[in-house]
Amino acid sequence: MTSKKGLIVLIAVCFVFVISFVHAQPKDVYMLHWEGAKFPPTEFTHKKHAEDYKIDCKDCHHKDPNPAEKVEKCISCHDIAEAKGGAPKAMDAYHKNCIDCHKKENEAGKSAPVKCNECHKKS
Ligand code: HEC
Ligand code: HEC
Ligand code: HEC
Ligand code: HEC
Repeated sequence: MTSKKGLIVLIAVCFVFVISFVHAQPKDVYMLHWEGAKFPPTEFTHKKHAEDYKIDCKDCHHKDPNPAEKVEKCISCHDIAEAKGGAPKAMDAYHKNCIDCHKKENEAGKSAPVKCNECHKKS
């Protein structure tokens, strides 16, 4: 293989690699739940929260410098079992993030869920 061909192949491989990161798209709706959780999964409308309710990415992805390019999952830092490395445990992080904002919104006349069974709905 000539070095020119080699270079083209290298550029093509880099291109595919970069594209696969840039296009890391969130799902429209998540069923938030983890292995062994006792309560029913919580439906989370990612698309509505970001687009209709116009919440900034960084209100939730608070440690990611540029969420449009790359985000880390909450539970990669927020351990399920216990607080670790200064990060509160996962349940507390989710509850604080979701419920604190909902309470604030409801004071302003919205009707976002704040009761256990409004989020952890039995199917
Ligand atoms: C109200 C909170 C919230 C907002 C606002 C939000 N996200 Fe998310 N996002 C989440 C949660 C929760 C998940 C599910 C994955 C998890 O639990 O870590 C997620 C998942 C993702 C994922 C997929 C991660 C993966 O590994 O599967 C991407 C990408 C993402 N969000 C990007 C964004 C971008 C870009 C914005 C702003 C336009 C945004 N998010 C706004 C909470 C939010
Ligand atoms: C890279 C690691 C990392 C990721 C990813 C991460 N967090 Fe955090 N989080 C932390 C740390 C560390 C703290 C402690 C305070 C600080 O350093 O900001 C924290 C604090 C918080 C707090 C404040 C708790 C309090 O008592 O004030 C909330 C709420 C929270 N995280 C929610 C989330 C949510 C929701 C996600 C996913 C969308 C997420 N975090 C992703 C590391 C992370
Ligand atoms: C920064 C503010 C904010 C955060 C953070 C937030 N929400 Fe919301 N949420 C809203 C608003 C605003 C509404 C719409 C309320 C209305 O229209 O009456 C809403 C509505 C909802 C609803 C009902 C309507 C729908 O779209 O399904 C659910 C369920 C919900 N949120 C779950 C969550 C969960 C789970 C989290 C945490 C992962 C979360 N939210 C984090 C602001 C927030
Ligand atoms: C705004 C939505 C919301 C409300 C209200 C809420 N939760 Fe959660 N909760 C979540 C999310 C999101 C998670 C993380 C993903 C999951 O469901 O496992 C979670 C996780 C948990 C967990 C750890 C996982 C498990 O199931 O063992 C427990 C326990 C829990 N919640 C109990 C409660 C109780 C009790 C209440 C009422 C006092 C409550 N939650 C209210 C959204 C909510």
